[in-house]
Amino acid sequence: MTCYSMVCTSSNWKEPKSAEGRVILCFSAIGPYDIGDAEVAAKLANASALIFVEPMSREIGADIIPSVHVNLEQGTRILNYLTDSPTKPVVQIEASKTIIGKSLAPRVAYFSSRGPSSLTPDILKPDISAPGMNILAAWPNQTSPTLRRDDNRSVNWNFQSGTSMSCPHVSGVVALIKSAHPNWSPAAIKSAIMTTAYTKDTSFDTILADGPMKASDPFDLGAGHIDPIKAMDPGLVYDMKTRDYVQFLCNIGYTEEQINMIVLCPSGTDTSCPRVPKSNANVNYPSITVSNLQFAVTIKRTMRNVGENKNAIYFGTISEPDGVEVVIWPRVLVFSWFKAENTYYVTLKPQKKSQGRYDFGEIVWSDGFHRVRSPLVVCVNTTQDSNASMNLSYM
Ligand SMILES: *[C@@H]1O[C@H](CO)[C@@H](O)[C@H](O)[C@H]1NC(C)=O
Ligand SMILES: *[C@@H]1O[C@H](CO)[C@@H](O)[C@H](O)[C@H]1NC(C)=O
Ligand SMILES: *[C@@H]1O[C@H](CO)[C@@H](O)[C@H](O)[C@H]1NC(C)=O
Ligand SMILES: *[C@@H]1O[C@H](CO)[C@@H](O)[C@H](O)[C@H]1NC(C)=O
Repeated sequence: MTCYSMVCTSSNWKEPKSAEGRVILCFSAIGPYDIGDAEVAAKLANASALIFVEPMSREIGADIIPSVHVNLEQGTRILNYLTDSPTKPVVQIEASKTIIGKSLAPRVAYFSSRGPSSLTPDILKPDISAPGMNILAAWPNQTSPTLRRDDNRSVNWNFQSGTSMSCPHVSGVVALIKSAHPNWSPAAIKSAIMTTAYTKDTSFDTILADGPMKASDPFDLGAGHIDPIKAMDPGLVYDMKTRDYVQFLCNIGYTEEQINMIVLCPSGTDTSCPRVPKSNANVNYPSITVSNLQFAVTIKRTMRNVGENKNAIYFGTISEPDGVEVVIWPRVLVFSWFKAENTYYVTLKPQKKSQGRYDFGEIVWSDGFHRVRSPLVVCVNTTQDSNASMNLSYM
């Protein structure tokens, strides 16, 4: 870290090591350095306040001296002011105020876990994005807000960032949906949340992934950012039954014995595993992932109409991943009082030579009111001469 100090009040500079009456400007080195360390150093030097410059993190936490985070551009402007100022540079601290709509939101935090999942490469992870940055949350007042031993303050609220903060947001939305639709299964609720999530930010551009500073893709964002109001009325849901979960566990290598120990099955559920584990691409999941596309494959999905209108007609549209031909059949799904469920098939055919590169698309079903969106994640692997297999007929 590189730090500079500037005059905060009219007090004089006392001794080389003391920063009394001054504000310290600190540039973190490359990478997310802990502002806590800088605060402790500033406090030991008796500084009045700290300005911490970080390239990426915008996390805030409990401060032990007045502190502010700025980005590299702001930090450089402050440093220029400091070195160019003909008079003594001065810092003014004012009461804080809330500014809404100035910065882009939402965006994916640099520390957010990214896909693909090594355990289940054929199921997209993450599923969903939800608020998790600088969340003011309840805090045990026997624990100091900074967790430092020399901090003896007691607070009931504290700022926290991470999945631990996103998860309660999603849990709250799940509870909201469950109270509106008490007979929906966990899978149906998850489907409602995923298929109604959005991928554009407040500037109507693709949500930004902090860190790499690029447009987010499903490995950053999952199906998108959670939209509680839309999730209450998704139109269609991808549902799953106990047997589907059993098959999923079989496919990722659990034995029948292990499955019987952990799955509390309603009597009559088949807990047997097929001899050879299969791909999870056909698990009735709200996203579609093919992690090793060597030749044409066909994937099956079933949707249930949960909309108010029992007689509904949905049209499917596709956005193809680069180098993959995608065909859905049928293109039109007709739901009625007598037919609440419909099945469709997606055929994916590699159209390029590639190995180990993921490409992204989507499948959207709409009745004009609802938009049921599934991310389509495909890794084409055709470097081996696969001309023969590429001509195989559809499964
Ligand atoms: C900070 O202030 C304390 C209390 O006045 C003093 O004992 C200490 O020497 C000061 N530290 C520095 C680095 O000047
Ligand atoms: C700490 O929390 C407990 C339980 O909520 C509460 O009764 C108590 O008043 C709190 N103490 C302080 C200092 O806020
Ligand atoms: C915390 O510690 C400081 C000095 O170490 C002391 O002056 C202060 O009273 C303590 N505060 C509490 C709430 O115990
Ligand atoms: C691509 O296919 C080859 C040959 O089947 C296989 O060894 C390799 O693991 C595959 N790569 C990926 C990323 O799936």
